[in-house]
Amino acid sequence: MSATTVDQPIPRTRRLHPWPVRIMHWTNAVAMLIMIGSGWGIYDDSVILKGLHFPRAIVVGGWAAESLLWHFAAMWLLVANGAAYLIYGFATGRFRERLLPVRVRDVVETVRDTLRFKIAHEDLTMYNAVQKLLYMVVILAGVAQVVSGVAIWKPIQFSGLIDVLGGFQSARLIHFLGMAVIVGFLVVHVALALLVPRTLVAMVTGGPTVGARR
Ligand code: HEM
Repeated sequence: MSATTVDQPIPRTRRLHPWPVRIMHWTNAVAMLIMIGSGWGIYDDSVILKGLHFPRAIVVGGWAAESLLWHFAAMWLLVANGAAYLIYGFATGRFRERLLPVRVRDVVETVRDTLRFKIAHEDLTMYNAVQKLLYMVVILAGVAQVVSGVAIWKPIQFSGLIDVLGGFQSARLIHFLGMAVIVGFLVVHVALALLVPRTLVAMVTGGPTVGARR
């Protein structure tokens, strides 16, 4: 073996979606779907928007109390997994690398191109500006759901939080609107994943190899 071969550093590479990201992403998807479906079951028992009920066929739990049990069970999975994802994202620099920077000009350009059906998705390793923005919004919506959820779960212990959120009914409304943001995101997110199936395969297998982090 020549000296040059020995001296050369072994190039470190990693997958686009390392295994912890894949496990946390799909765990989050399962927990979120249970939270949404059971949340609809709880909502039906005391509606916020008159006339808006969710059909039994799409709610989790046969009746409100059962939906509540599902909601509280999935809550722990969602919070533990979400906390792990946030710690991982900040500690490894993934958030900075994949989600930043987001420039208004780039967002406008991406929206314009998309409306003209010029969606660039040859390069899986880069999120476009709209994707970055949507991912940030949904991560923040997830955090807002946990905070408002804790407030309406334990309104006496967290009465200060209830006050900050403008009272119990206002906290309920915030929790409901957060759900609407997440469901809206999911519709677009899943539709795009199905339109560009390579991204879906990558979220299962890890996707292409990318260079080591700087
Ligand atoms: C249930 C069906 C779901 C499918 C089929 C799906 C699919 C995907 C795919 C294919 C990607 C990679 C996108 C790309 O590389 O261009 C992705 C990333 C992502 N998804 Fe989902 N997803 C689902 C549920 C969710 C849910 C429920 C959330 C959050 C509420 C979510 C949040 C995210 C985020 C934040 C990323 C970026 C992850 C990162 O790069 O760290 N997904 N998803």
